[in-house]
Amino acid sequence: MSDIKVHPVPDDFAANALIDTAQYDSMYRRSIEDPEGFWSEQAEQFLTWFKPWDKVLEWDYHQAHIRWFEGGRLNACYNCLDRHLDSRGNQTALIWEGDDPAMDKTLSYRELHTAVCRFANALKSRGVKKGDRVCIYMPMIPEACIAMLACARIGAVHSVVFGGFSPESLKDRILDSDCRVVVTADEGVRGGRHVPLKANADKALNACPDVHTVFTVKRTGGNVDWHPERDVWYHEEVAEASADCPAEEMDAEDPLFILYTSGSTGKPKGVLHTTGGYLLYCAITHKYTFDYHDGDIYWCTADVGWITGHSYIVYGPLANGAISLVFEGVPTWPDASRFWQVVDKHRVNTFYTAPTAIRALMREGEAPVQATERSSLKLLGTVGEPINPEAWEWYYNVVGDGRCPIVDTWWQTETGGHMITSLPGAIPMKPGSATRPFFGVVPGIVDNEGKLLEGECEGSLVITRPWPGQMRTVYGDHQRFIDTYFKAFPGYYFSGDGARRDADGDYWITGRVDDVLNVSGHRLGTAEVESALVLHKAVAEAAVVGYPHDVKGQGIYAYVTLVKDIEPSDELRQELVDLVREEIGPIAKPDVIQWAPALPKTRSGKIMRRILRKIAANELDTLGDTSTLADPGVVDELTANRANQ
Ligand code: WTA
Repeated sequence: MSDIKVHPVPDDFAANALIDTAQYDSMYRRSIEDPEGFWSEQAEQFLTWFKPWDKVLEWDYHQAHIRWFEGGRLNACYNCLDRHLDSRGNQTALIWEGDDPAMDKTLSYRELHTAVCRFANALKSRGVKKGDRVCIYMPMIPEACIAMLACARIGAVHSVVFGGFSPESLKDRILDSDCRVVVTADEGVRGGRHVPLKANADKALNACPDVHTVFTVKRTGGNVDWHPERDVWYHEEVAEASADCPAEEMDAEDPLFILYTSGSTGKPKGVLHTTGGYLLYCAITHKYTFDYHDGDIYWCTADVGWITGHSYIVYGPLANGAISLVFEGVPTWPDASRFWQVVDKHRVNTFYTAPTAIRALMREGEAPVQATERSSLKLLGTVGEPINPEAWEWYYNVVGDGRCPIVDTWWQTETGGHMITSLPGAIPMKPGSATRPFFGVVPGIVDNEGKLLEGECEGSLVITRPWPGQMRTVYGDHQRFIDTYFKAFPGYYFSGDGARRDADGDYWITGRVDDVLNVSGHRLGTAEVESALVLHKAVAEAAVVGYPHDVKGQGIYAYVTLVKDIEPSDELRQELVDLVREEIGPIAKPDVIQWAPALPKTRSGKIMRRILRKIAANELDTLGDTSTLADPGVVDELTANRANQ
């Protein structure tokens, strides 16, 4: 590892940082030696409670039973808004930057509070009660955040579905968690193009008879179909609603939201997060990872349809009284300078994005970056996938002019917040390494037998004890929670990722070790894409794997076996791509489809994905042992006809 460059913490940054190296060491030690003492102090410091908890922590990783701050009462929305009104009511809470560079607006904490209370009352007037699930299918407009907070205010459980998902995916998610109310917009706008959200919702709702109310925000004024027995305009409902809506007292362990995420098998699962632990964990990680000082302008480019948007656009920043920028557009529109133009326009101090965006912008060269000043930037962050050292150095030197530390934050939908990341004033940076665990997090690396490895090592990444932001269950299927995360290595939470620990004790995430793809930082299960492909009547069988892709990190490579007597053709290839797009959404479109007369299988009929991954990655000399295959000839056929990518 000697060729790895270590970037020390810049002195001027360290001088002003909230946590320095010695503090990190002592706080980390305390968080491990006395977790209950540590977390109860943090819970008092970061959150306002209506009633203190009876017990800090109760857990059993064999039953996947995890409870934090049981008996404590609080409200997430109250913590994000009400308690700030006296001290910072007129301070900006959200800066909204539209897809069109001429469109923006700001909402102060007071304005946001009023908007949230009105919509909360509108939800109530349509019968939404504590514990009910509400689906939010929205573009990146302030109303998306308002809807989330309004649910939290009245104790309803939101399930945000990314606006890029298809009607089919939306339908599955609405049905799985039995949402009866949907919040959407007429259309979204991204990169100058309109996305027909209401039309998509209408299609999904054909199969969801229990949905009785659809609130529609008028974003573009585009034409929409109207179902008067079900559809209401958001602006009309809030205009009539009172701005007085007390925040519901919730138990710390009452559900806050469900967010669907892909796993290696079956349909996406509803990750359930609860109120107290999640909110505390978002708030503390937001503050320390981003070294957030009062008044900093903070921008996370994620969409609220993903966990990053939940934790680091809405809940973490607002719990801390921060200024959070919400961006509707894309990095390359109207041109490849857009991110940096927005940084200059709003004097952004902290910028948090995904490696795939950095790699896409790197391709456009330095000129679009250098056309801007970026002098307000203090800190950069990355999330979603491993960042390759070239992209890291470009981000550091070109975007940050070598001045701004980078925090490489490893975490997951399931973890609620950052788990492994350098703290910018405390931990030296190594391009490509997420470095050290956050307070209270005890990572471990295990071998295939589940034995914890010591010192320098590589294996599967587990977490050996709970942290407050940990998911509590899979909505409606606790057994699936146990089976997915606590069975492979009994006694530990298994992340699904592989990792290496170097001689300094720093962690390097090596990527998923299960059948989950990471395409442009978006998680997709191979099984989901396969199920979409086999819906086509010409397809007998399909196997999907990831392969290295310059911009997306991973691309999607599909091997498709056709039904007897059907001939492959370019039209058929296009039909299959379109089918996946319709079933899941544009992010799941295969990059490569290879026609496969047969798939490599073991004698018991199991597809050997290891071999398919090697062929897709063009690593043909290291296919490994093929002797256990039922028909080894299949592999020669596939390698000979390997698709040109
Ligand atoms: C990957 C996103 C390397 C990892 C917050 C994880 C990363 C999955 C990093 C979770 C990182 C996320 N370095 N890999 N800094 N951050 N990942 O649930 O494989 O959408 O398991 O949560 O993204 O994706 P999810």
